[in-house]
Amino acid sequence: MSTVAVILAAGLGTRMKSRLPKVLHPILGDPSLLWALRTLPPDLGGAVVVVHHGKERVLAALESWRQAGLLPCSVTAVDQGEPLGTGHALQVCIPELDRLGATQVAILCGDVPLTSPATVRRLCSAEALLLAMDMQTPGSYGRVLQHADGQLAGLVEAKDATPEQLAVQRVNGGAYALPWPALRRALQDLTNDNAQKEYYLTDAVAAVAATLPVAVEVCDPEELAGMNSRHDQATLQAAAQRRIQRHWMAEGVTFLHPDSTLVGPRVVLSRDVLLEPGVRLEGAVTVGEGCRIGQGTVITDSALAEGVEIRPYCVIEQAIVGAGAKLGPFARLREGTDLAEGVHIGNFVETKKARLHRGAKANHLAYLGDTEIGEGTNIGAGVITCNYDGVNKHRTLIGSRVFVGSDTQLVAPVSIGDGALIGAGSTITQDVPADALALSRTAQTLREGGALRLRARQKKQTRLS
Ligand code: UD1
Ligand code: MG
Repeated sequence: MSTVAVILAAGLGTRMKSRLPKVLHPILGDPSLLWALRTLPPDLGGAVVVVHHGKERVLAALESWRQAGLLPCSVTAVDQGEPLGTGHALQVCIPELDRLGATQVAILCGDVPLTSPATVRRLCSAEALLLAMDMQTPGSYGRVLQHADGQLAGLVEAKDATPEQLAVQRVNGGAYALPWPALRRALQDLTNDNAQKEYYLTDAVAAVAATLPVAVEVCDPEELAGMNSRHDQATLQAAAQRRIQRHWMAEGVTFLHPDSTLVGPRVVLSRDVLLEPGVRLEGAVTVGEGCRIGQGTVITDSALAEGVEIRPYCVIEQAIVGAGAKLGPFARLREGTDLAEGVHIGNFVETKKARLHRGAKANHLAYLGDTEIGEGTNIGAGVITCNYDGVNKHRTLIGSRVFVGSDTQLVAPVSIGDGALIGAGSTITQDVPADALALSRTAQTLREGGALRLRARQKKQTRLS
């Protein structure tokens, strides 16, 4: 038996009022479609994503997720062409599902991000199942009609329903598992003879239910809620946030102000991590035991070892931070920053492609780009690696136990040997050997009493004018 998942993602998402296709709108930093794909069990015979509106961007996103190893199984895409309804979306998948040798299909929507992996696993291993939810105000959802024994009897869209059918509060969550031969037959007989002139998948599901028993599972409505508007997006994000925070609190993480803290679905926290108000962690972030992350700090795609202390308002992306490092306030670590144990990066320091070895320090106002800095080296205030000559980027190599005085410019490519000392205010354009003292300053001039004479002259000029 081979189960193939189909994810519907061709719709325009008119109510989002956006140039971005609906399924690419994010919940806690990850697009809705990625949430849906990540719930799929890895033993599937593949997944088919039905695309059309914003197809180029959706395909590009799928490829980037594949390259980043974020997809649990192999994923292909089918272009629906002009979308003529959910049933039409499945019709255009017939050749691809045949090619994949599907015997079972599990159908999900790309704009339903919060279905739990456990629910999707149950769906993918079921023979014939529909996921439903009970709603006080069922609104525009399709209504679920059941036989006395609970099996599915029919599905009717709100726009086609009789007043009695509209009163039904059990609604179709839009997720189904069905044997492929039976669904395939039903799809071939679909018509668009209904209020919306669409080919309804629900008609095909109802036709299958007439030939074999289809079970109905009632889920928590949060799991099947769709993102159709910006309001839905905000509601889903709040729900996802509650779920993720509850999980990490149970694992020993303190949130000083949960309402203002955003932690994405791919973030991994550890015991005794403390998150101050306004922290945002997105993408693949890991945080080691006992780290404290200061107020207003934003971290994306980075790894922090244990005991890191981040003071308020740091921005960290694609960086590695070693155990016990101290950062901020107001530090910016950019892509390719790799800090070893005990490194200090202070206020208004920017790093990019910078590898700092154990205990190196840059405590104030510096730009460290395309550089490697040795153990115990001290970078003074206002130091700049001049890494760009207008055409190419060059590297600055600084050894261990070096002292770089304040306001020094290191014009790359340049290297500084172990134990060297660079006087404050120097412009270093040539390599400095180990243990050397390098200094480049224009000679200072000094005139005794010069200030007095200058002030006297200025006073006289004011009197005359
Ligand atoms: C559908 C169901 C409805 C159910 C609801 C649950 C039908 C006819 N109705 O209604 O019973 O309660 O979902 O959310 O299926 N899509 C395509 N191609 C299309 C049309 C839609 O890929 O031609 C995609 C959309 O992008 C979306 C999903 O299918 O991801 C659902 O489509 P939508 O138009 O939102 O269906 P509903 O009217 O909400
Ligand atoms: Mg919908």
